[in-house]
Amino acid sequence: MIIRILGICGSMKPGSSTAAVLRMSLQASTLVGAETNFYDISERPLPFCDGRSEDSTYPPEVHTFKNLVKNAHGIIIATPDYHNSFTGGLKNAIDLCGFDEFEHKMVGIIGVSGGAMGAGNAISHLRGVMRGVGAWVVPHQVSISNSSKMFSGPDQLADPMLEKRLLKLGKDVVKYANLFANGMLEDE
Ligand SMILES: Cc1cc2nc3c(=O)[nH]c(=O)nc-3n(C[C@H](O)[C@H](O)[C@H](O)COP(=O)(O)O)c2cc1C
Repeated sequence: MIIRILGICGSMKPGSSTAAVLRMSLQASTLVGAETNFYDISERPLPFCDGRSEDSTYPPEVHTFKNLVKNAHGIIIATPDYHNSFTGGLKNAIDLCGFDEFEHKMVGIIGVSGGAMGAGNAISHLRGVMRGVGAWVVPHQVSISNSSKMFSGPDQLADPMLEKRLLKLGKDVVKYANLFANGMLEDE
């Protein structure tokens, strides 16, 4: 079975550095045989989740997004650190979904911060939210600090260790997504 991995980027900034590193992890997923897709909320904005009882009345973009999440076996989520957490745009995208879309999905998380502290809090908060929608988050994660210095050239990371971590994440999500996709984890 071909494993489908969806990338979701929490940045809405054109030329986002978070989107660039997410694409690197997705590339690693393809190297181990996965099919990948990328949902960029900056290019395909989603309306606010308002908690309505009839989801079908949301505009088509919402259904496109929900279907992409639902049809994926694994998801790599990358977010910039905004005030010590992940972005509001990303939270809104997740709020438009729920167990129906995220349950039994393997998730990998990347966080990118402008400052020196890294995006550990954003990643931890996102782990908690993923539990709330029934997803499984892989232990490996990537926190990037000093984002303005992370590239030494176009698509070239200054730190080779960082590149290694991003590639491992892309491969890990595929490896563990296989467990559900191939029925190796039973569900009651
Ligand atoms: C509203 C806002 C809040 C931010 N808060 C933090 C923060 O708390 N800590 C930090 O290190 N960087 C913070 N940053 C910087 C971003 O994390 C950083 O610029 C990141 O690389 C943006 O990623 P992007 O280029 O993918 O949008 C903030 C940026 C914005 C716009």
